[in-house]
Amino acid sequence: MSLIRRFTHVSPLQEYLLERRDEGLIGFVPTMGALHDGHLSLVDRALEECDTVVISIFVNPKQFNNAQDLEKYPRTIEKDIELLGDREVVVFHPEFSDVYPDKAYEVKLDLGNIADVMEGKFRPGHFDGVVTVVSRLFDIVNPDMAYFGEKDYQQLAVIHRMVEVQERLVEVVPCPILREESGLAMSSRNMLLSYEDKTKASGIYRLLNEAIQRIDERSPKLLADELRAEFTSEGFDLEYIDITHPLTLETLHNEWVDGARIFIACYIGGVRLIDNIAVK
Ligand code: PAJ
Repeated sequence: MSLIRRFTHVSPLQEYLLERRDEGLIGFVPTMGALHDGHLSLVDRALEECDTVVISIFVNPKQFNNAQDLEKYPRTIEKDIELLGDREVVVFHPEFSDVYPDKAYEVKLDLGNIADVMEGKFRPGHFDGVVTVVSRLFDIVNPDMAYFGEKDYQQLAVIHRMVEVQERLVEVVPCPILREESGLAMSSRNMLLSYEDKTKASGIYRLLNEAIQRIDERSPKLLADELRAEFTSEGFDLEYIDITHPLTLETLHNEWVDGARIFIACYIGGVRLIDNIAVK
């Protein structure tokens, strides 16, 4: 028998959570579905640390700046439920009108540099959409802990900043990137890749991993230039490579700092992939 409780509408979910709040901590894992082991690692971490775990599955149109990308985004709700298996979790799977009774609902914050660079630059409006939906979902669920993957490292930085600016009490928990055996970071978008493209995509982690072995002899700028050349010569359709400070996300040029990170966004077979790695 499944231990999953499903909700579509806000009020019944909130009534249920009101009861559960007396039992202890409420953990929250926001997702857009097409679940994979990366998502499940967040869910399992939440189950370890919290008494009630809510997973939202909602493809948020407000964070897509490209209509085709939104249309192509995989929606596999019944398979998602199956994947959750015998986990005792609450699944919130709302319609657009449940999340946004006011269609024009928007949360706009001044997030500064962290939201302007990389994803912010190449997907204008993306983080406004993320902040809008996560803010609304936090209001609905009112979690004690919320789990986000480092796969979307910049998103994590944006959420940290949002929580700070909005003075929320929720604890944001960063979770490590889960990878396939080939090294490819797990992503809902991977299921849109052909077999050949998936093999090619495993080159992303290989090149990043090789790069962090040679930082002693190179400045961040030089390493970034080398990586751009390598990805381009291996036939990747590159959007950006950036090496940044882990907190401010400012580009590093001449000096390394502790925890510096390398970021990449590229297209393979028309599918947009992102990844990042910490420099040791
Ligand atoms: P989505 O891409 O479905 O990701 C949901 C969460 O799973 C995010 O925190 C993401 O970083 C994490 N995740 C995805 N792949 C992962 C991997 N390979 N390893 C570890 N964690 C991984 O991110 C979103 O949805 C949306 O922007 C959302 C926050 C739900 C707002 O709509």
